[in-house]
Amino acid sequence: MEPIRAVDWAPGRTALRIIDQRLLPVTFERRDLTTADEIREAIATLAVRGAPAIGVAAAIGLAVVARHAAAAKDVGTGREAFVAAWNTAADLIAAARPTAVNLAWAVGRMRTAAARTPGSAAAVATALEAEADAVLSEDREMCAAIGNHGLGFVPDGARVLTHCNAGALATAGIGTALAPVYAAHAAGRRVSVIAGETRPLLQGGRLTAWELTRAGVPVRLVTDGMSASLMRTGEVDVVLVGADRIAANGDVVNKIGTYAVAVAARHHGIPFVVCAPSSTIDSCTPTGAGIPIEHRAADEVAAASRADSAQVAVWNPAFDLTPAALVTAIVTDRGVWAPPYSFAS
Ligand code: MRU
Repeated sequence: MEPIRAVDWAPGRTALRIIDQRLLPVTFERRDLTTADEIREAIATLAVRGAPAIGVAAAIGLAVVARHAAAAKDVGTGREAFVAAWNTAADLIAAARPTAVNLAWAVGRMRTAAARTPGSAAAVATALEAEADAVLSEDREMCAAIGNHGLGFVPDGARVLTHCNAGALATAGIGTALAPVYAAHAAGRRVSVIAGETRPLLQGGRLTAWELTRAGVPVRLVTDGMSASLMRTGEVDVVLVGADRIAANGDVVNKIGTYAVAVAARHHGIPFVVCAPSSTIDSCTPTGAGIPIEHRAADEVAAASRADSAQVAVWNPAFDLTPAALVTAIVTDRGVWAPPYSFAS
């Protein structure tokens, strides 16, 4: 089976290629993006989404923007003008979404690569292409490593509950929370997944259910309000979720609804495990209170609830904070971390 490539280079490296996740599972459509405006729009509207994937999208996107600018006659390959225009593009893309630290992290890496490269615009563009390559391949490797490190949480017969989509669609590789599931499945273990639908944008229902079914992993879809009941009746062995940002003390910000799952898991004595690459750890932010939470348009909730957003007030934070005290373990590409967490640099 073809691997899912949520973010990648288009052939010839002339564009950023994404799968337009707004259309899944009804339509599978790739889009090739070449401008900073297109890339910002794709990230902001969740055509490409998931913390690691938006970081990789920004890296490849900024390399593509640089390549086209360096080749354009009007820039005249003057380094100053080229770098100034490219930095404006980097600002635009970095501001597309505030919560997932991977986006700022990847843009920061690209800025460092540009700044340390001497010479012409073409030389900078070449260096940015190499840096984007590194970001892409490291993400794939980190996903695989998370899968291996997390295998201990997915023994034969494990019934895993997950929330949102932290699978291949959310990364350049096999995912984060779903990486141990795929690793266990590949190792011949019988593993099944309960996917929470994840209101209001239904990443669980539209994306997790789709990619697990495609991979042949048994999956049962539930609405968000059903997962605590399944825990009470003994049908969940472990919760595996991803993260958009992990603070130095182990507080986790992830898709809205994650906190409720963590509270229910603690009540029922079920391990609540967060899987994330090193690029999701924000060692400069001491606690989750310092992590910005994105608030999105009222229409998203209104549409999911069939309400009239002109008539009714709506609260639509895209993420919530799960305190470190509720997190049984954090699985990263570097290993398994147990409390008390300390990721300070
Ligand atoms: O708004 P989204 O769909 O980008 O939110 C995604 C999540 O919350 C994921 O759980 C998180 O980014 C980890 S993805 C490996």
